Amino acid sequence: MYSKKVEKLIAIAQKRMRMSRDPSHDLRHTTQVVKHVEQLMDGYNLKEKEREALVLAAWWHDVGRTTTKGSLVILFIMTFVDDLISALFLWRETIKIFFFGSVPGMATRIIYCKNGTWGSLIQYIWLRKRTRMLRSILEDADNLELLSIERLDIIRHMAEETWLSRLAYKKMVQHGLKGSYFVMNNKQAYTILRTKADEFLQWVRKPEITSWHIGYYGKKWAEETARRIETLRNSLPVQ
Ligand SMILES: [Fe+2]
Repeated sequence: MYSKKVEKLIAIAQKRMRMSRDPSHDLRHTTQVVKHVEQLMDGYNLKEKEREALVLAAWWHDVGRTTTKGSLVILFIMTFVDDLISALFLWRETIKIFFFGSVPGMATRIIYCKNGTWGSLIQYIWLRKRTRMLRSILEDADNLELLSIERLDIIRHMAEETWLSRLAYKKMVQHGLKGSYFVMNNKQAYTILRTKADEFLQWVRKPEITSWHIGYYGKKWAEETARRIETLRNSLPVQ
């Protein structure tokens, strides 16, 4: 399907992600992000090299996370540097196998510019218009995966470890519910987002999940959080 060198790099990324000690950024997460990327990129008239670069970037976008253990606090800190580390890891592997040209170059830059802190600005300096579009597809695919029920359950259990982890979970939820994760770059992504948001709402309203949230954060916070999710779900464009 892809060139031999791209297939080789994908296999390396899969091996690394399989060994990830961070259960919220493991092979399952990456596989889902790649699946969303493939669903979304079908709606664009992409060149072969662009498709290869985007899929390669999707497989490598969280390889930097394999350097950390599963503490939620570390995961929170990693949010600011993981894209840089992942981009450097991919760059090193491409040199090792003598893979040069537009595909590895685009893939590395897409990952580096995906960072939520500086990426949205630096992309205008570093990326061409077409590559910015590829970056936006990867960003949507990764944000869609944030609403995965499986992943939320993993993160919820990680929050049980320490009081700092519980605080990080609360901050993460509050940050996620500001609404930016419910705004997609690509229209096609809203079809997947609506399904994901429905599942998310059903999950948060389950009796055991409600009582878990009340137990750790209080009834008021749990109710407000569920209400906020419902408001965000209802605000999604119908298409
Ligand atoms: Fe990710």
